Amino acid sequence: MTEGALSARISDAPGDPIFGIVELFRADARPHKINLAAGVYMDEQGVTPILPSVRAAEERLLASTTSKLYMPIGGDPAYLAAAKSLLFRTVGGAWGEIEPVASDRVQMIHTPGGTGAVRLAVDLVSRLRPGAEIWVGEPTWPNHTQIIESARITARRHDWITDDARSLNTSALFDAIAAAKGGDAMILHGACHNPTGIDPTPEQWSEIAQQIAHRGILPILDFAYQGFGDGLIEDAASLRAFLATGCEVLVASSSSKNFALYNERVGSLAIIGADAAAASSIASHARMAVRTMWSNPPAHGGAIVSTILGDASLRAQWEGEVTAMRTRIADSRAAFTAALTAAGAGDFSYLLDHHGMFSLLGLTDDQLKRLRDEHAVYLVARGRINMAGLSAAKIPIVAKAVASVLP
Ligand code: LMR
Repeated sequence: MTEGALSARISDAPGDPIFGIVELFRADARPHKINLAAGVYMDEQGVTPILPSVRAAEERLLASTTSKLYMPIGGDPAYLAAAKSLLFRTVGGAWGEIEPVASDRVQMIHTPGGTGAVRLAVDLVSRLRPGAEIWVGEPTWPNHTQIIESARITARRHDWITDDARSLNTSALFDAIAAAKGGDAMILHGACHNPTGIDPTPEQWSEIAQQIAHRGILPILDFAYQGFGDGLIEDAASLRAFLATGCEVLVASSSSKNFALYNERVGSLAIIGADAAAASSIASHARMAVRTMWSNPPAHGGAIVSTILGDASLRAQWEGEVTAMRTRIADSRAAFTAALTAAGAGDFSYLLDHHGMFSLLGLTDDQLKRLRDEHAVYLVARGRINMAGLSAAKIPIVAKAVASVLP
């Protein structure tokens, strides 16, 4: 091999902490294997279905789409209007009524999934706040630190939950806010924290938002699971808390989970500026960043979302589907918690305080390997479990498997 070859001085990159486990699962030939690794919704049969509202929208689109022309750099205006209405809907308001502060301070950019939106937010920090560091509470979605570091920004990790990963440690979070320098950014999970399931209450969000705004830190809300915690509007309490402070905010949202459009790669970055001119100026830099990364976003997923949200009856159908997914996840969580006790694993009642798909069971790498090798059960680091992958049949099997690897 020549000295200048791309491969001259490298060894293989490590596998992805989440999709790497999914690859192990795929390669496992045992028919009884159970995938609780990637954060995707599954029904009782273990299938990630296409939502009926999505099917209906796709049928309409098949009949009406006439071109595959490029999108504008910032994306599809119809999707962006729909995504904005969903994010900023007022409490108790009709569809289309958005928080007044959001009507002129917000610019939206259409992105390939929530990951694209986080990547764009981080890129904006690197472009517009050179020297800034980005703070993340540990543990977090492993891709956060990967994205920050790939933008050549220093990721500053801080504690924000108790050592047993069962509850929030607000004083550690406030210490981090105090330690950050003005101009730094901080990534927070808008709802259904990934991987812990531990969310601040609306009152805690209000306190967190005020302290972050006071310190001049840029909050980046990763809001991938809207609707999977307490409800579509309830889950946006975090966002409303930041809006109330008047500070600038970046919100990465995803249609992967609540529309089950995982492989369509559709999401958005909401840029909330100090005022309309600031939002517009930041968005101009975002479009420049987009042009160098993905040029313009894929269209189909956004067209599905805007078709659903733009039609009152499809929208009502979809809201019912989100409620059904949320209810099934919460029911699985409760049944799994009871099954752990029944299996002799001990008291896991803390799981009932958590929101969304995930919680940590607090397992070591050795215990996770035993779960895979001996029971064909696949979880992510520290025992992140995807409650949305459980079913009535799998719950006792997984609970017994977990109990068997505990000391
Ligand atoms: C997860 O955390 O499992 C999901 O958000 C999928 C992903 O992209 O990591």
